[in-house]
Amino acid sequence: MLTPPSSGPSDHRLRDGEKGDAPVPTNKKQSRPEMTFPDAETASPTTSSAVSSPSRRPLVVMDQVTKVFSSGTVALSDMSLAVNGGEFVSLLGPSGCGKSTALRIIAGLGDVSSGTIDWPSSRINSRGLPEGDISFVFQEPTLMPWQTVFGNVYLPLKLKGISRQAARDEIMATLTTVGLEDFAEAYPRELSGGMKMRVSIARALVTKPKLLLMDEPFAALDEITRQKLNDDVLRLWKETGITVVFVTHSVFESAYLSSRIVVMKSRPGRVHADFPLHTSLDRDAHYRTSEEYRQACETVSETLLEAMSGEDAH
Ligand SMILES: Nc1ncnc2c1ncn2[C@@H]1O[C@H](COP(=O)(O)OP(=O)(O)OP(=O)(O)O)[C@@H](O)[C@H]1O
Ligand SMILES: [Mg+2]
Repeated sequence: MLTPPSSGPSDHRLRDGEKGDAPVPTNKKQSRPEMTFPDAETASPTTSSAVSSPSRRPLVVMDQVTKVFSSGTVALSDMSLAVNGGEFVSLLGPSGCGKSTALRIIAGLGDVSSGTIDWPSSRINSRGLPEGDISFVFQEPTLMPWQTVFGNVYLPLKLKGISRQAARDEIMATLTTVGLEDFAEAYPRELSGGMKMRVSIARALVTKPKLLLMDEPFAALDEITRQKLNDDVLRLWKETGITVVFVTHSVFESAYLSSRIVVMKSRPGRVHADFPLHTSLDRDAHYRTSEEYRQACETVSETLLEAMSGEDAH
């Protein structure tokens, strides 16, 4: 039995995976989950998505994607995943199972060896990539040290050819959203790790993307800061309706944040289990100590162990 610490989530960094022989789960039909879950039942993993609502088209659809690097490493094999508008999807799995590779492909940052990747709700540019609807937050904030907070958040708008003056209101509104409106003129060296990550999130949000991709964004931060940022991201998700795909190694973080959990297995990487979390979305300090949260953590943890042991999802 897994008991989450009442002080908050902690990291469960996992070992490399094992031989896998389960058929690749597919997610042919998926759409937006309900934003409130009146049934406080424990999630039930399945090999196909149980999230259903026909009202929204998916934002991104990976269909039987295989990715083989030039080194010969098969990072993904026949991976299928559809992400729907309004979801908060956490992607978990053993280290090296292909989470970052999958996220980069979803972002249009990497090509596929076979299979298809499609963004049905986006405008596609001449290179076959989605235009402006997707933002990426990496584990490191990667801020320009010679630029102020304002300048760093301005960058994606500058790249779109928007003048600093025209961008000012949008940048200040976004800094307010992440609680940094008083630090617009500060330089990265003057900020804490959590504040730098907030700048990175603001930079991702300032273009108003439909889809926010986050690759272990808080892994390097202390637990208190991480919890605070978890609450911030959750609030942003609820307030803006943005769709989030969040890579994490933390069972507790994923159970706290997500409306849906996707667990991958490795060698080669593919979806092992894909299930909604039927838990309250009023997630706060009380939720962290609730039986509902404990059960969600236990379900995610057991599914991860299954993925690592080679068992099929049930
Ligand atoms: N550019 C690359 N060239 C060759 N192999 C790569 C490249 N990027 C990743 N790989 C390999 O692909 C596999 C999946 O890597 P990936 O970074 O996607 O895993 P991950 O699940 O994100 O791991 P972690 O949890 O440690 O971040 C690994 O075996 C890795 O060594
Ligand atoms: Mg990674």
